[in-house]
Amino acid sequence: MTVLGLGPMGHALASAFLRARHPVTVWNRTPGKAGDLLDRGAVAAGSVRDAVQDGHVIIACLIDYDAVRAVLEQAPADWGNRRLINLTSGEPAQARRMARWASSRRIDYLDGAILTPTSAVGTPAAAVLFSGARHVYEAVEETMAAVGGTAVHLGDDPGRAAAYEVALLDIFVTSVNGIVHAFALASAEGIEPERFAAFATGIGGLLPEMITRFAEQIRTGRYPGDRSTIASAASGITHIINAATSHGIDTGMLTAAKSVLDHAVAEGYGPQSLARLTTVLNKTGRP
Ligand SMILES: NC(=O)c1ccc[n+]([C@@H]2O[C@H](COP(=O)([O-])OP(=O)(O)OC[C@H]3O[C@@H](n4cnc5c(N)ncnc54)[C@H](OP(=O)(O)O)[C@@H]3O)[C@@H](O)[C@H]2O)c1
Repeated sequence: MTVLGLGPMGHALASAFLRARHPVTVWNRTPGKAGDLLDRGAVAAGSVRDAVQDGHVIIACLIDYDAVRAVLEQAPADWGNRRLINLTSGEPAQARRMARWASSRRIDYLDGAILTPTSAVGTPAAAVLFSGARHVYEAVEETMAAVGGTAVHLGDDPGRAAAYEVALLDIFVTSVNGIVHAFALASAEGIEPERFAAFATGIGGLLPEMITRFAEQIRTGRYPGDRSTIASAASGITHIINAATSHGIDTGMLTAAKSVLDHAVAEGYGPQSLARLTTVLNKTGRP
C-alpha cells in the first residue's frame, strides 16, 4: 500500500492503513512529513518511482488533479497490475480525464471522494465514495475497508464520485458563507455570538427534513407552496440586504440569491416552493 501525499488527509489515510496492519510506503513532495508514521512502521520512499514500485495499491491524496498528474508522470511507465486510487478532490471532468490518462497507460483506476474530515478516517464515521470500473473496486474493497465507515461504489463512470462531491461541497461552502454572514450581521447589531448561536443552531436543525422534501418535489416536478413560497423569500431577502448594507457588510451573495428569486417571481413561480429554484438556476446560470 502506497500513499502519495502527506497533507492532513494523506497522513490520516496512511495512519489508518498502518492501524489495519497493512505495509505502508509513503511519499510526499516536501520530505520530512512522515513523522510518527515511520515510528509505526511506514517506509518513506525517496522518489515517486520507488513509492509506486513498493505498493500494489497506490493512493494519491494531493491538493488537486494537476498535482496528481505532475506526480504520476514521475512514476514508472509500466505499472504491472498495480492499481491507482485517486482520493484527491476535484471536478467530474477532471476525474474522467484522469481515468483516460490511466487507461492510456493500462493502469486500473478508481476515483474517490472522502466526505468526512481527517478525524473520521479509520473510524465508523468515515464516508468515502468511489467510481470507476467495478472490477477495480471489487479488487481493492477489502484493503480500503481500513479507511472505515461507509464506502459506496457509484458505478463505472469515473466522474460520479466527484460529481457527488462538488454538489455536496456546494451545500457546505454556501452554508458556511451564510453562517459567517449571519454572525457578521448579528455582531454589527451588538448581539453576542453565543446568544446568537443558541438560535442559529435551530435553523441548522430544519435542513435535513427540508432537503428530503425538496428531493421529492424535484423528482415529481411538483412544487406546492403550502409551507413557504418563493414570493415570501424574495420579500424577506430584501430586509437582510438592507440591514447588511446599513452596516457596510458585503451583500454580494445575498444580491445574487435575490436575483434568482426575482427571476423566479417574474417567471410566475412566486406561489411555489423554493425547490422550484432548481429549475430557475438552470436558466440564470447560462451566458
Ligand atoms: N483535510 C480534510 O479534512 C479533507 C477532507 C476531505 C477531502 N480532502 C481532500 O484530500 C486532498 C488532500 O487534502 P489534505 O487535507 O491532505 O491537504 P491539501 O493541502 O489539500 O494537500 C496537501 C498535499 O498536496 C501536496 N501538494 C500540493 N501541491 C503539490 C504539487 N504541485 N505537487 C505535488 N504535491 C503537491 C502537498 O505536498 P507538500 O507537503 O509538499 O506541500 C501535500 O502532500 C484534497 O484534495 C482535499 O480536498 C481533505
